[in-house]
Amino acid sequence: MCGVVGYIGSKQAAPILIDGLKRLEYRGYDSAGIAVVCGGKIVSDKEVGRLVNLEKLLEANPLEGVCGIGHTRWATHGVPSRANSHPHFSSDGTISVVHNGIIENYSELRDELMAQGHTFLSETDTEVIPHLIEQALADGAMSPAEALRLTLKKLRGAYALGVLFRDEPQSVYCARLGSPLIIGLGENENFIASDVPAIINRISRAIYLNDGEMAVLKADGVEVCTIDGQPVVPEVKEITFEAEAAEHSGFETFMLKEIHEQPRILRALLTKHVSAEGTIQPPAGLSENYFRKLNRIMIVSCGTAYHAGMYGKLLIENLTGIAVETDLASEFRYRDPKIDPGTLIIPVSQSGETADTLASIRMAKEWGCKIFAICNVEGSSVVRESDSVFFTDCGPEIGVASTKAYTAQQMAFALLALCIATARGDLTPEQLKSYLDDLQEIPDAVHYVIQQKDDIRKIGEKHHDGPSSLYIGRRFNYPTALEGALKNKEISYQHAEGYAAGEMKHGPIALINESLPVICICTKTADEVYEKMLSNVKEVEARSGRIIAVATEGDTELCKLSDDVIYVPEVRDEFSPMVNVAALQLLAYYAARARGTDIDKPRNLAKSVTVE
Ligand code: F6R
Repeated sequence: MCGVVGYIGSKQAAPILIDGLKRLEYRGYDSAGIAVVCGGKIVSDKEVGRLVNLEKLLEANPLEGVCGIGHTRWATHGVPSRANSHPHFSSDGTISVVHNGIIENYSELRDELMAQGHTFLSETDTEVIPHLIEQALADGAMSPAEALRLTLKKLRGAYALGVLFRDEPQSVYCARLGSPLIIGLGENENFIASDVPAIINRISRAIYLNDGEMAVLKADGVEVCTIDGQPVVPEVKEITFEAEAAEHSGFETFMLKEIHEQPRILRALLTKHVSAEGTIQPPAGLSENYFRKLNRIMIVSCGTAYHAGMYGKLLIENLTGIAVETDLASEFRYRDPKIDPGTLIIPVSQSGETADTLASIRMAKEWGCKIFAICNVEGSSVVRESDSVFFTDCGPEIGVASTKAYTAQQMAFALLALCIATARGDLTPEQLKSYLDDLQEIPDAVHYVIQQKDDIRKIGEKHHDGPSSLYIGRRFNYPTALEGALKNKEISYQHAEGYAAGEMKHGPIALINESLPVICICTKTADEVYEKMLSNVKEVEARSGRIIAVATEGDTELCKLSDDVIYVPEVRDEFSPMVNVAALQLLAYYAARARGTDIDKPRNLAKSVTVE
């Protein structure tokens, strides 16, 4: 949720920390702060609101020093205020901590510490950490590392920590449990960050710290150990994406840039996974034989990734004989889904750090299930905890509203469904070729939709003002309706509902009046539900609803019924959701722009939901 950075080297730390925090601001942004070791003490500045407020403070009063930590906060314990902003300090100011995650037992720890004479200045869970370290040193811990280790053993919950000690001015300590933390390796300088984009412009190699590990960074080296003190030889990974991937690159927002990246990403996934001979290899760790025996799949995910999972279910069910279920990870983990060890679990996650999705994976592993993840972030917790992974290869998704990760997840499911169906003999080589030929058309079709953005903008601007909107679709495009509504509500703050169009008569039709925009996803090919969808559109028309149709080029029916039509190219029904959703992403985008919201950083939301 929050962003953590740290630096040790020979350069001034404060500008590097601020630059890193700017790149992390999308993770959480109600306050920010940094601390730097300087002249025998730790100095710090914090400010509420956007990072620019902290920057102004630092301009007036620069903090000098080559070793520091920084944090952007998304409040969980205590309102956004200077006092609650990180870094937090020990009573004597010699230890400073930034933290991402939640310390579940902070209340009892705080009571114990208060009984020992510690005074707290904030309402946060984090503040117990520097006090615990201070107490461990007072109780006789031999070194900062040992005091940190003793402290970590007392914490219950999740953390990615950066820690400074006044008396070790050439070191940054860090630790991880349940919240991501990477160590970036430079030339005579090293970094910590909760996410690669924070330091992507400064490093090309990184260590992804594992749960239960801590490290001490000096300018010329990094030592990693477990919290039990066992040395660890860390795996150093090359960072494969360019710094530009985390820049605006001339677009007014990250979201608009990421919408535009979709055709390239989809094309690259096809190139990577479909051989020149027109075959799709099973993902590493799974085999044709495994797919032949498989009889149940359970897909678990949250939000947009859940909608991708719904699409995956429809497609795999349609192409294979396998029973597929999908569930919200937050529900799945609290129900009794009667999963047997033969069930393949597919978690879907852009960030790879979503708490509920991770909890579902852990449950399923206890039941003995195989885990095949669809994920975007290398080194993330979902990736580490899964048996096999399909990487969506989108590069960093910075806009809080997921766009490119969604279509890449859909593409992952399309390729997986075709691979499973072929392995099981549900598709002949000729049928596979026909599907793949049609799938190859999708990147261009998405590009075509994006080219229509000026027309879509006018429609978004025309219908943005009402209190609510309704999105309807059927079959493969029922998840598209849900995703279109989610995009709209999260970035424009207009209430929006997605519905299966066949449900209209069971309730939502009561909402229809002349001011309610109803977005009808009604693309036409051989799909048997087109006629049904058309009837639903007519029901809306008969009640004077404002109809915005997403229709196939050449359709002559819908323009008679609709106030506005977004035309998309004709593609195979099964793959149409990837194309149609691009239109809805742009529609939401321009509605949000007309409503003047902060599109990349919508209120109350954070990019990565690492707490339940
Ligand atoms: C919406 C959005 C969220 C995420 C959800 C899961 O635009 O981005 O609904 O899809 O929080 O996140 P990941 O995919 O990181 O597990």
